[in-house]
Amino acid sequence: MARKLLALLPLLVAAYARSINEESKHWGVIVAGSNGWFNYRHQADACHAYQILRKNGIPEERIITMMYDDIANNRENPTPGKIINRPDGPDVYHGVKIDYREEEVNPENFLKVLKGDKEGMVGIGNGRVLESGPNDHVFVNFVDHGAPGIIAFGSKFLHASDLHHTILKMNEEQRYGQMVIYVEACESGSMFDKNLLPKDINVFATTAANAHESSYACYMDKERKTFLGDVYSVRWMEDSDKEDLSTETLTKQFEIVRRETNTSHVMEFGNLTMGSIDVAEFQGKNTEMHIFDKQPIPNPNLDAVPSEDVEMNILQLKVQLAESDWERELVSQKLEDLKITRRRTEETFKHIMALSVNNNKDLVYDLMTERLPLLAHDCYKPVTEYLRTNCPGLNLVKNDYAPRHLYTFVNLCEHQTPQEAIMGAIDKTAEDTDLC
Ligand SMILES: *[C@@H]1O[C@H](CO)[C@@H](O)[C@H](O)[C@H]1NC(C)=O
Ligand SMILES: *[C@@H]1O[C@H](CO)[C@@H](O)[C@H](O)[C@H]1NC(C)=O
Repeated sequence: MARKLLALLPLLVAAYARSINEESKHWGVIVAGSNGWFNYRHQADACHAYQILRKNGIPEERIITMMYDDIANNRENPTPGKIINRPDGPDVYHGVKIDYREEEVNPENFLKVLKGDKEGMVGIGNGRVLESGPNDHVFVNFVDHGAPGIIAFGSKFLHASDLHHTILKMNEEQRYGQMVIYVEACESGSMFDKNLLPKDINVFATTAANAHESSYACYMDKERKTFLGDVYSVRWMEDSDKEDLSTETLTKQFEIVRRETNTSHVMEFGNLTMGSIDVAEFQGKNTEMHIFDKQPIPNPNLDAVPSEDVEMNILQLKVQLAESDWERELVSQKLEDLKITRRRTEETFKHIMALSVNNNKDLVYDLMTERLPLLAHDCYKPVTEYLRTNCPGLNLVKNDYAPRHLYTFVNLCEHQTPQEAIMGAIDKTAEDTDLC
């Protein structure tokens, strides 16, 4: 009898697995945090991701999108109402349903959406949140600027520690069976690095870059005078567009994207065993091949530039393309201003470092050059928030060059500089100089 039951066991297990599978629903959360024409590419990436999920059968009502929505109808858009994600590419804006736009695109709302906090979202956008359950598969795609332990989000920061706690809560409350997260941002590896994403909570994440480097923009468009995509994002999406996702595993997609993204180190985190699951389990099944796969696709590595150099590159292109002396002069002036802003940014960080450690020159040198891993989140979060709000001159969220220097704040915290000393240094810089 017992032996008979034992023999039946694999069948029962398989049947049970099937029944789980049948019940499991696919959900998507797609976010572009930035705004402004210079950042065209982020919303273009997000729209493309939306098209992939929809095309692959994930219903509109199970995809939640957040994006500022100032690109399609931007006055700088030569093709009003359309957004493309590669040169001569198809419109990816068509049909995108946006749930949260403009100032609704912020970290608090994002975390509430993930936690399924319906009450917390009443009166905001259309109030939709993830309503996934213990058998469901959730795919999250985030695109914006980043810094150590931070992804920029509208005019605010989403901190790694807050994302970490939200994912733990989602796991605790069984808001997913399995979850996959793809993040495009500078230094995005720092969002999951150093055990921020446990291996035993059924989450698999990949990031565009490691914890210490930029992610790269690509596909500079001369007509639109902006970049159309980001290397990591277009690599995974162009792969999803052409592969049969019901036979391609997450690991295979990761390996392809990692190999093809030669501008930064694409990373994987969390439960890597989940890598053997098919991509279709998260991005949906593509029964017919995508519109994108029919034309040859240009190589995004060829004109890739680090995210913080995007604005500089666009202005340089505008100088080249200027149609009159007057226009050339105007853009050249903007370029000069940008160079001055960059020098001031460096000066500001150096000034704050020096004041934080009583002008200890050797220590300042270390602070400006080391790249210590971020562990002291309890220090880093309050001091970077303090900097963001009390040194508005840095324009920390919009000026992508500034967050590239936040590693100095990681160093300050890792050297156990008291928070009060750091905040005092910020105050003093704001009072005594015009840097903030
Ligand atoms: C990782 O994911 C695999 C595949 O879903 C699962 O079988 C395994 O139990 C998970 N590992 C941990 C430590 O949770
Ligand atoms: C990346 O690959 C392209 C060709 O695909 C090549 O031109 C470029 O130099 C490579 N960049 C790096 C940083 O290796």
